[in-house]
Amino acid sequence: MKIYLDKDINKPKVKEDIHKIVSSGGLVVFPTETVYGIGADATNPNAVKKIFVAKGRPSDNPLIVHLADQKDLLTVVKEIPKHAYPLMEKYWPGPLTLVFQKTDLIPKEVSGGLDTVGIRIPSNLVAQEVIRSAGVPICAPSANVSGKPSSTLFEHVKSDFDGKVDLMIDGGKVTIGLESTVLDVTTPIPVLLRPGAITKEMIENTLGVGIIDATETKINDIPRSPGMKYAHYAPTGNVSLIEGRKEDVISYIIENMKSKDIKEVGVIAPSEYLTDIDCMYKVDLGPIEDLNEVATNIFLALRQMDTLNIKYIYIPALPKEGLGQAIMNRLLKAAGNQVIHV
Ligand code: TXA
Ligand code: MG
Repeated sequence: MKIYLDKDINKPKVKEDIHKIVSSGGLVVFPTETVYGIGADATNPNAVKKIFVAKGRPSDNPLIVHLADQKDLLTVVKEIPKHAYPLMEKYWPGPLTLVFQKTDLIPKEVSGGLDTVGIRIPSNLVAQEVIRSAGVPICAPSANVSGKPSSTLFEHVKSDFDGKVDLMIDGGKVTIGLESTVLDVTTPIPVLLRPGAITKEMIENTLGVGIIDATETKINDIPRSPGMKYAHYAPTGNVSLIEGRKEDVISYIIENMKSKDIKEVGVIAPSEYLTDIDCMYKVDLGPIEDLNEVATNIFLALRQMDTLNIKYIYIPALPKEGLGQAIMNRLLKAAGNQVIHV
């Protein structure tokens, strides 16, 4: 397995290696602005299957196809609905995945048997260069073992996939820290399937009309997006997500910790909450006014709880406005969709 640094991405040898590996059906781990991805040639079913094996991912959960340039869009999608244009113009390249009708170039292994495909043009220059060097569309799910938090640091992908892929690019810490927003544009009214850094409000403002929010779909409802039905981001410990006034949430955590072994308790919270909570393992997500900062630390915090073998993880619920919707979507999944109201 080869490991390269992101700063070397423009060296001919690195580009050549990427090209060779992807053309021969190999797997490449690379950074994007959202989370790390584990990628393969999206037009090669055998290569695609390897991704599912490496991640332990259910085969009906479709993969996002990544392009470096918008000009290649019509090779992978049948048609571009009118309302997709303003979104593509405003948010591509960037953390927005749009679901279109797929062409035959994209095999059913990628789409999980659906007729549609999610397309994303990452803004991360290393990711763009990986796709360009490969010379084919790259399908890439988040680079984490299925069900575990997505990877926001190189160490995470290294520990999940060391020796299981052919090449890795170390891009340090990612800038956003939450996976892309997924929006289905195949219907007359677009449907939000996964919240992300491009928020519902941003999309509605750009379109000038309302969209359907399918992200609150309960686990047992028929999922619009196959990814919705799987329990994601779950650390091994039990996650309590607590909603209420700040003082009440803090009291709840302090009261509950009392009966537990202090070495088995972890608190993940915005800075404002932590000063009043006395425990051994605390992860400061950053100030609550800075949700961008909070977003970059969520998956990192969840993974660290596993590293420490924490059994009881307490997390205050955050406001759901703007980027808060995407953050709470991930936290809810980590907490098995349960919220404790105090
Ligand atoms: O930010 C991201 O999107 C990252 C980076 C690597 O680009 N990728 C990522 O991929 O998060 P993944 O596979 O972990 O999540 C893809 C999500 C899943 O929930 C999947 O069900 C949904 O997108 N999805 C993909 N194609 C779809 C389709 N055709 N229709 C509905 N949902 C789709
Ligand atoms: Mg994922």
